[in-house]
Amino acid sequence: RDVSCIPYYEECQKTADWLLSRTKHKPKFAIICGSGLGMLAETLQDQEVFKYSDIPNFPQSTVQGHVGQLVFGELKRKACVYMQGRFHMYEGHSLYKVTFPVRVFKQLGVETLIVTNAAGSLADSYKVGDIMVIKDHVNFPGLAGYNALSGPNDERFGPRFPSMSDTYDKDLRGLALDLSIKLGYSHFVQEGVYCMVGGPNFETIAEARLLHKLGIDAVGMSTAPEVVVAKHCGLKVFGLSLITNQVLKEYGSNEAVNHEKVLEISKKRAGILQDFVTELVAQINSN
Ligand code: 6GU
Repeated sequence: RDVSCIPYYEECQKTADWLLSRTKHKPKFAIICGSGLGMLAETLQDQEVFKYSDIPNFPQSTVQGHVGQLVFGELKRKACVYMQGRFHMYEGHSLYKVTFPVRVFKQLGVETLIVTNAAGSLADSYKVGDIMVIKDHVNFPGLAGYNALSGPNDERFGPRFPSMSDTYDKDLRGLALDLSIKLGYSHFVQEGVYCMVGGPNFETIAEARLLHKLGIDAVGMSTAPEVVVAKHCGLKVFGLSLITNQVLKEYGSNEAVNHEKVLEISKKRAGILQDFVTELVAQINSN
């Protein structure tokens, strides 16, 4: 195991201090934009932008549909930081790098992490374009030892053996489901279980059937590492999956998914997701 990947507290602190000395915003909310969802940050007022390549210690993103910058600003008078472009395990990044920004957010003073992603649906009742409030996750790489918390533990972040039993904040999920009714979104907002697989290939039919049998509602290639690290360091977590495609569970179909289709649906639904996140942040009492 690569020991150079241990999450040095001081390294994260240095990055956080660098950012804090350059922005007037003191974000309480951090939002990670999923594939094709970078435009979620567009509604931020009074923006200050930092390219990943300019931020000390920050990893660089390589995927199409991911920009690669932090955007600070205000949503309904609440200070936020958006991550436009996340880091994926399948890019070859260590999970230390994938989750480095989350620890930086913690040291910026962030209290709530909102994660978004594009995901394929396994649940028979979901439709393309639906938004799934993440109730819980199955972290397949994590279960197999590819866990962002593997390696030496720094108690200043959190405990060696953190609980993950109440990871996706119940109050925030409740708030989101109430809000979906108020906004007239309830016919396309679902609540379900997200599963992370390593990627970068999409699932075989047999794998899709396996995940379906396990009770998983949506599958993607991200989110679990960031969420595990956020929970470890005491952040509140809320997550949304945009359903960009149905995962094929039957042989003989020729409707195979591809990344372009994923980005196309993300683009189409980003506005709705943006409104949902904005209204949610407006309603959260942060004190
Ligand atoms: Cl079908 N599978 C995975 N692993 N990730 C996805 C996806 C499918 N659709 C969007 N992201």
